[in-house]
Amino acid sequence: MSAAAGDGHGRGHGKVILVGEHAVVYGHPAIAAGISTGVSVTARPGRGRLSVPAWGLEASADDGSPAGRALAAILRRLETPDFDFVAEAEIPSRAGLGSSAALAVAIARAAADAAGRGGSDPAADAAVMAAVAAAEAVFHGNPSGIDAAAAASGRTGWFTRADGWRTVPVLQTIRLCVGLSGRPRDTAAQVAAVARLRERLRAADDILAVLGRLGGDAATALARGDVDGLGRIFDAAHGLLSALRLTSPELEALVAAARAAGAVGAKLTGAGGGGAVIALAPGHERDVLARWREAGFAGFVTEVAAAPGGATP
Ligand code: MEV
Repeated sequence: MSAAAGDGHGRGHGKVILVGEHAVVYGHPAIAAGISTGVSVTARPGRGRLSVPAWGLEASADDGSPAGRALAAILRRLETPDFDFVAEAEIPSRAGLGSSAALAVAIARAAADAAGRGGSDPAADAAVMAAVAAAEAVFHGNPSGIDAAAAASGRTGWFTRADGWRTVPVLQTIRLCVGLSGRPRDTAAQVAAVARLRERLRAADDILAVLGRLGGDAATALARGDVDGLGRIFDAAHGLLSALRLTSPELEALVAAARAAGAVGAKLTGAGGGGAVIALAPGHERDVLARWREAGFAGFVTEVAAAPGGATP
């Protein structure tokens, strides 16, 4: 990364939530994995404009659009001069893969780098993460912060609102099929829908608590390299998320197709309603992608990287 004022570069990772989405909003733990694909941003002296060609997105810090307001929030928090930002996005937007957090992390890192405040100093990191939180609040209202933490880390981690992000041990690299429903998800709307459901269904809180408990089981499965066990956890989590009315016909079709192609477990990931599913299908990843293609859905394979050492939370 460059240290002098001028051009700056930053990157944020896409993420998949392995277990615990929505539960994490209510203080329960969740486990997310940063994925290798993400968003890279270059910052140059300019007037606060943002361009993300892959998403057909053009915004500026004073245009009042959500992306413009998020950009303004980052620049305000970091107290940098105005820059122009060009982003190269390798993940689709609004697909449940943490695109807004990946973009916000990449912009904030690029701005800090261009202002000569890049690097891995903890105070600079904290300033970047505060700027990212401000941007995510524009997009999602009152997010738990898990997307931002995963986008910054790129590793697999355990997250609670109280204690933040802690990387967890992963005994062996795990291949994950990601299927795209093609229906954009709206995180703020899905989080609000769960809040309304809690007022009408007392058991909703129990369901959220069990989802949080599955986070602990998933951490154990990852540490042991127990892919079959993780698959069962995925299936259980998907059932519970369905009980919270977070699934959709497209997500159900993706989950059913993955299981029919040999997946040992599949679930929606992220806010639900639209977005993506993840499936574990050791040795059958191509079959899963082929079934999804036949059913009209795009998908790809990504990896949860091995990260030995440490203790499970
Ligand atoms: C969205 O990726 C995850 C949710 O749990 C919302 C949040 O944690 O802010 C649905």
